[in-house]
Amino acid sequence: MEFNIALLKGDGIGPEIVDSAVAVLEKTADKFGHKFNFTPYLIGGCAIDATGKPLPQETVDGCLASDSVLLGAVGGPKWDDQPGDNRPEKALLGIREALGLYTNLRPAKLYPALRNASPLKDEIVGDGFDLMIVRELTGGIYFGDRGYRHGKYGEEAYDTEAYSVTEIERIGRVAFDSAMKRSKKLCSIDKANVLESSRLWRKTMHKLAEEYPEVEYSDMFVDNAAMQLVRNPRQFDVIVTSNMFGDILSDEASQITGSIGMLASASMGAATRGMYEPIHGSAPDIAGQNKANPIATILSAAMMLRFSFGLSAEANAIEKAVDDVLNAGWRTADLVGNSEVEPLTCTEITEKILEAL
Ligand code: IPM
Ligand code: MG
Repeated sequence: MEFNIALLKGDGIGPEIVDSAVAVLEKTADKFGHKFNFTPYLIGGCAIDATGKPLPQETVDGCLASDSVLLGAVGGPKWDDQPGDNRPEKALLGIREALGLYTNLRPAKLYPALRNASPLKDEIVGDGFDLMIVRELTGGIYFGDRGYRHGKYGEEAYDTEAYSVTEIERIGRVAFDSAMKRSKKLCSIDKANVLESSRLWRKTMHKLAEEYPEVEYSDMFVDNAAMQLVRNPRQFDVIVTSNMFGDILSDEASQITGSIGMLASASMGAATRGMYEPIHGSAPDIAGQNKANPIATILSAAMMLRFSFGLSAEANAIEKAVDDVLNAGWRTADLVGNSEVEPLTCTEITEKILEAL
């Protein structure tokens, strides 16, 4: 089969990790007799430098014309002074919205080989955990009304959390469907004891739950969820939550797996085209030093093959190659902790994964 993939390498370590994932995709294409055509587009700080804007129209058009998008990361201190509307991060929100990607799947599982990298105690981790965070991605406070106004204490800034029944239902369905394919357990996380938008969220989820009698459904307040994730992560399987709560909880979930450098994500909408990216950022402190862990991006590419192209065997092969390399003891700098292991560079671990493939 032949697919066109738009590459948004972005800033910081973005180019290094995307190059690694491209090498893995090319090897996979060779092995299974497919053809992937890659077209790079600018996004984020590099796009600001080249065009003045973080999300040029050409990038949006290129992504819309592609079969899927692979993204590295955006942002860095160089662009911190940009006005809110022209920041690199704004491009990420813009492309998610332009492609209609309202679902963000963020799996967080503990690799047995990385058990020691997790900060959690053995009795908490037990034989491991495997969570799927379903984050709403094009609504809520990230996209609500915002601005400056005169308030009780003088000038103030505000952002608004708003959710419609339609938005809650469509992300809810994705989560219930995902629960049906996994262990039939779903926890919806909100702040319904305080927020009106959360009360509508909860009410809508409860209604949906009636359509999925086989799913063991529960609700949890977000503050409790933040605590439960480190107290007993094994109680969760699929989690569904709003845009901002999902942003925060997915970073927490990644940390208990050992490294944020391992976590992939898939952003999807109504189309089969999705956008695939690591959940970590551009790590400007190590950019250009060949130290980054490319595994989250490589695993994101595997998700692209599975979810957008229907190539499950190919996705499994990539995931197995990553497993094999970790089981053989190879680590990047973020994964060595205070062990004696000599870390591999980004290109070295990529080579190991290519060999394993
Ligand atoms: C993420 C990131 C982004 C987000 C930022 C960079 C806009 O933190 O994908 O988790 O908040 O969605
Ligand atoms: Mg985040």
